[in-house]
Amino acid sequence: MRVLVLGTAAGGGVPQWNCSCAGCAAARANPSWRRRHASIAVEAGAGRWYVVNATPDIGEQIEDHPALHPGPERRATPVAGVILTDAELDHTLGIARLREASELRIAATGTVRSALSVCLRLDAVLGPYAGVSWTTLPQKETEPIDGGPLEIQGVRVSGKRPRYAADLREPDDAWVVALRVRDRRDGKVAVYAPALADWPEEFERAVRDADCVFVDGTFWDDDEPRRTGIGQKTSSQMGHLPITGPNGTVERLGELPAERRLYTHLNNTNPLVDPDDPGHRRLAAAGIEVAGEGAVIEV
Ligand code: MLT
Ligand code: MN
Ligand code: ZN
Repeated sequence: MRVLVLGTAAGGGVPQWNCSCAGCAAARANPSWRRRHASIAVEAGAGRWYVVNATPDIGEQIEDHPALHPGPERRATPVAGVILTDAELDHTLGIARLREASELRIAATGTVRSALSVCLRLDAVLGPYAGVSWTTLPQKETEPIDGGPLEIQGVRVSGKRPRYAADLREPDDAWVVALRVRDRRDGKVAVYAPALADWPEEFERAVRDADCVFVDGTFWDDDEPRRTGIGQKTSSQMGHLPITGPNGTVERLGELPAERRLYTHLNNTNPLVDPDDPGHRRLAAAGIEVAGEGAVIEV
């Protein structure tokens, strides 16, 4: 299966419009530091792509990748729909940018759909522009998308909800899932998990046999958000296991048998936004890489 890396930054991107931190300042001066909001696209069939998470950059992300360009008919697009891992604004604001679609297909858990429909009123707002058609992301096992060859599954990761949905009652509680994609043609598996508040047993099982695993790399260490002055909470308290430290993910990710193990969703305060940061060598020693902007990965 083919995976396009459309972006690799956490909410705000690199640079973030109102931030003058070292990473954002360097990215303004040097395009090689820039990162768009985290997203991937997976090819669900010849020339038919699903975008995983619709970020505020989705228009530019589509323009960046010729495989996602429209044609030959005037309004024919290879973008078949959107799959959501959660309802966070950095992963959903781009949906409104797709309102020129004749029909907008969105696959998400019932909980994520409720957040978008009830709290953001997305169905009501988009209705007069594009018909939104929802598909429930299967959680128990992988199920074919559009009749195959790809099968998808949302593996529940945590009940971390967006701030705007603090009061929404949702018994299902599937706020954040990792997307597991299996290609029936060769059995290859990719897992995309840009938001990991926890590493539950269910997630461990989902990544054990994966060939390519993308994991939340928002912060390098737990204290980074406080140390850099962007907030009072630690990385874990913000719903992101850090890369290093006592509850870091680097050892668990490094132990997985997957051929490709990558961090994505980097915050602009993460030292890894510097292409020369020594952290890249430490990760490489563990067989891990930071997902590259625009990368095309054959799983
Ligand atoms: C997150 O990843 O924790 C959220 O995107 C933060 C936010 O932008 O609200
Ligand atoms: Mn985010
Ligand atoms: Zn910044």
